[in-house]
Amino acid sequence: MKNASIILDRDYQLGRIDPRLYGSFIEHLGRAVYGGIYEPGHPAADKNGFRRDVIDLIRAIDVPVVRYPGGNFVSGFNWEDSVGPVSKRPKRLDLAWSTTETNEFGMHEFVKWCKEANTSPMYAINLGTRGVDAARNAVEYANHPGGSYWSDLRAKNGAKKPLGIKLWCLGNEMDGPWQMGHKTATEYGRIANEAGRVMKMIDPSIELVACGSSSSQMPTFGDWEMTMLNECYDTVDYVSLHRYYGNPTGDTPGFLARAMDLEDFIHTVISICDAVKGKKHSKKTLNLSFDEWNVWYHSNKQDREIWKRDRWGRALPILEDVYNFEDALLCGTILNTFLRNAGRVKIACLAQLVNVIAPIMTRNGGGAWAQTTYWPFLHASRYGRGVALNVISNSPAYDCSDYENVPLLDAAATLADDGSVTIFAVNRSLTDDLALTADLRSFGSLRPVEHILLHHDDVNAVNTEENPNNVSPTALEGDALDSGALTARLPALSWNVIRLAPAR
Ligand code: AHR
Repeated sequence: MKNASIILDRDYQLGRIDPRLYGSFIEHLGRAVYGGIYEPGHPAADKNGFRRDVIDLIRAIDVPVVRYPGGNFVSGFNWEDSVGPVSKRPKRLDLAWSTTETNEFGMHEFVKWCKEANTSPMYAINLGTRGVDAARNAVEYANHPGGSYWSDLRAKNGAKKPLGIKLWCLGNEMDGPWQMGHKTATEYGRIANEAGRVMKMIDPSIELVACGSSSSQMPTFGDWEMTMLNECYDTVDYVSLHRYYGNPTGDTPGFLARAMDLEDFIHTVISICDAVKGKKHSKKTLNLSFDEWNVWYHSNKQDREIWKRDRWGRALPILEDVYNFEDALLCGTILNTFLRNAGRVKIACLAQLVNVIAPIMTRNGGGAWAQTTYWPFLHASRYGRGVALNVISNSPAYDCSDYENVPLLDAAATLADDGSVTIFAVNRSLTDDLALTADLRSFGSLRPVEHILLHHDDVNAVNTEENPNNVSPTALEGDALDSGALTARLPALSWNVIRLAPAR
């Protein structure tokens, strides 16, 4: 057993947590839409073809916003293909994922599905193969009340009232050479500014996300943000960040340290935004939209085989990572990192939501189940609301492949509006439990509600349709709270959620 301690103070607040920190992402990719959220004829499908078993799992994790329709897919997408009578919608080749898109599920269906899933749309426009004109028409179609060509067409297509899409992404990963219509930073900054300007002329209430680098590993990272924001800073409301991690060599200590990289990435982007703000003498502070994050590597080899066999197939089972226990721990540290940066990270999207690198899996015609990563997301989304607290942490540390001085304890804490305090903590140690002491004196009288634990003896343990609860939360007894000092045991390799409420 090793010792670790934290100090929390109700006045040391990092910022209000935007509920959209618990967003996710559905792309027209693999079985995310077809066989995921939409499967007419499935025993659990409703009259719209929406799988209610999947909706139930999504509602339980309370996802306030879902990014759609891509992703790389959006850079070759004509939004007009996805509206109007389904029988008349064209089938198109999707060059991003070498599949065929039938457009059976489109803009109206997605907005309707969002209502059923208790979420809201974050809609990406195509700034790859298309541009300003298609972007302004999409906003007019979705949000203008009526009396114009596109808004009247929407009414004719069944939605008299505006679809009310309030959050828009200006393209996707436009720095990536793999992207259809890939651009230089200046080219992208100009088109994002011009598209954004006309979109806001039609509906000034919308918010816009500009594409930051597709990863902190891109050679252009940093310069891209600086150059493109120089063009579009005044028009946009957020800059995006994307990052995926993997552990192909089975290096658990190194893998579990990746939040160190994430923290650096976030701080660098904040610095660049603020440098552009200073340069422009602007009063506006730009916030961050971390709209793609996850573990992604398990399915890479399998996907290459699928594409060899079935290029241009429909709804191919690609990017179907099966997540293990250590992936759930990493996701816990990522969520903690977002909470520690909640003052500036206002939107984050777990990429993605169903089947495609997702916390929820389905079988076509069969069941739906929660992967290991579902659980930390559920806990953070349910209990990580209100304000984020500054966690003063003292922990033993270790050195690993890419980082020195990695704390064994990774912690975040929140204060909810009802006065409840929640501590989220990962113990990264492979061998040692941590005896945690938390100084909570400033909160007055609190009572422990529960200590939720996610632990498995095997870092490679997974959940399957046959064994969906193999990695799932349990209750840990034994926490004590005495005169504002909490003591709790954090088992080696564990995700912990310690919930405290005001004493009655
Ligand atoms: O989420 C999968 C893909 O990862 C997205 O389409 C793309 O934006 C990113 O590269």
